[in-house]
Formats: sequence, C-alpha cells, structure tokens
Amino acid sequence: MDEDNITILKIGGSVITDKSADDGAVRMDAIERIAGEIAGFEGKLIIVHGAGSFGHPQVKRFGLKGNFDHTGSIITHMSVRKLNTVVVEALNSAGVNALPLHPMACAVSENGRIRSMFLEPIKEMLYNGFIPVLHGDMVMDTELGTSVLSGDQIVPYLAIKLKASRIGIGSAEEGVLDDQGKALPAISKDNFDRIKDCLGGSANTDVTGGMLGKVLELLELSEQSKSTSYIFNAGNEGNVACFLKGKNIGTAICGVGKYGSNLS
Ligand SMILES: Nc1ncnc2c1ncn2[C@@H]1O[C@H](COP(=O)(O)OP(=O)(O)O)[C@@H](O)[C@H]1O
Ligand SMILES: [Mg+2]
Repeated sequence: MDEDNITILKIGGSVITDKSADDGAVRMDAIERIAGEIAGFEGKLIIVHGAGSFGHPQVKRFGLKGNFDHTGSIITHMSVRKLNTVVVEALNSAGVNALPLHPMACAVSENGRIRSMFLEPIKEMLYNGFIPVLHGDMVMDTELGTSVLSGDQIVPYLAIKLKASRIGIGSAEEGVLDDQGKALPAISKDNFDRIKDCLGGSANTDVTGGMLGKVLELLELSEQSKSTSYIFNAGNEGNVACFLKGKNIGTAICGVGKYGSNLS
C-alpha cells in the first residue's frame, strides 16, 4: 500500500530544546528554521517530536521510570504539551497545516510498549491535507499505570501500521557515529554486532535510550517492514529539507543485505 506515500519525520528534543536545562527551554530559532524547511513539502507527512527538556528531566525528577505517580505523570504530560503547542504554532506560522496529536489521548502501552493506538484521526488528517504532530509523552499503561512513550518508539509503530515509505530521524549528530566520531553510512543486522560498542545513551538527560535506543527501534523496523530509515543531523540548516526532497542523508538503518555485506 505504498501508494499512500507517507513520510514520517522525527525531530529530536536535542534539536528543538536546550536539553541541558532542568526544565523546559525551547530553541525557538531551530523550531522556526525547521518549520520553514518543512513548509515546502507537498506529500503526506507525520511529524513526531521529542520531549527534550520538557519531558526527560521531569520523568527523572518524579522517578516515572518504574514508579507510578499521579502528579509526575500530569506535570510531565502538561509540559510536553507546551512544547507541542510551540512546535505546532511555528509550523502554522510557516504555512504548514499542522495539528497537535497527543499520544496520552490516543495510545495505551503495556509495560512501556505501545499496545494500541487509535489511528483514525491520523489517517483522516493525512487524507484531508493536515500534518499531524505527535510527541514523546506519558501514556496510560495497562501494567504500570502510566509509562513514558518515546518518540523513537512512536515512529516505527506508525511506520508499520501506516506502511510509511520514508522515515527520517533528525537528531543532534551527523548520524550514528563510529569510534572515530565519523557517521556510519549504514547499519543493519549484518554489522550491528561490530559497531554496537560505539552506541550509547544521550550526553544529556534522556530517559529513553539515546542513540542506542533509536538504532534498536529502527533495526527492528527494518526487519518487520524492509524499510530503510535515516538518522541525520536536524541541527544543520537544510538537512530536514534535504531529507524531505528524497535525498538519503546521515546513517541509513536498513534490512540485512540492503547495502551489501561489506559494511564496516
Ligand atoms: N554512536 C553515537 N552516535 C551519535 N550519538 C551518540 C552515539 N552514542 C551516543 N550518542 C548520544 O546520543 C545522543 C542522541 O540521542 P538523544 O539525546 O536521545 O537525541 P534526541 O533528543 O534527538 O532523541 C547524541 O547527542 C549523543 O550524545
Ligand atoms: Mg532521545
């Protein structure tokens, strides 16, 4: 069902917020620049953004990984909503018909993994020319009460359910870096064992696994859907536009054999 030609773009919290802050700090210049780069795009697009300093420090403060807490869940959800409002307003100011879509209101997890998600609004939005904007969020969890739902988990879930044809993860590095700090051209299950020691969590507060978390989610996606995703630097001007124009940038995460067996 590739005729739908859906693109999913994730914009990292590391790009649109100051992730070293203890509480929500936006990077308005980055948000406005990226909104401008998205504005020219004409296809069906779903945006997912990270929580950055609007979510990770709050989750840490209330011990929400492994600990159920009403107040912490509410404060974290309300905080990431604020970031989502800023992003959606910037997109609309740039001429993008963006609408907010909060995972708390449409997804339920089981032990931290999405169990179900009500996708009809997304499908109808896309059909009618809107761009849904989801984000990392607290969601209800059948086992844990509430749990953290990372944007990095939302992307592959939607990619499979909606048969997306193009997936891009914009973060704050040139791609997945090797031990020399150089972006790897491609990662698949062929070379993952050789490069996995280079992968770590985030340099800043990130409760959802940093770069290793992203690569694991996308490798799983490449197994299930045979699709290739790209991890690239959305902090560099022009890269989001470049990805949306169909160019392959950063590190490709792909199925076995897609880039040959000579990956370093
Ligand atoms: N091999 C690697 N290549 C790139 N980044 C890595 C690597 N290992 C660990 N990281 C860390 O992961 C971070 C990206 O993850 P994260 O902070 O969660 O980004 P985002 O906010 O976009 O989700 C990088 O900024 C870096 O600090
Ligand atoms: Mg992250």
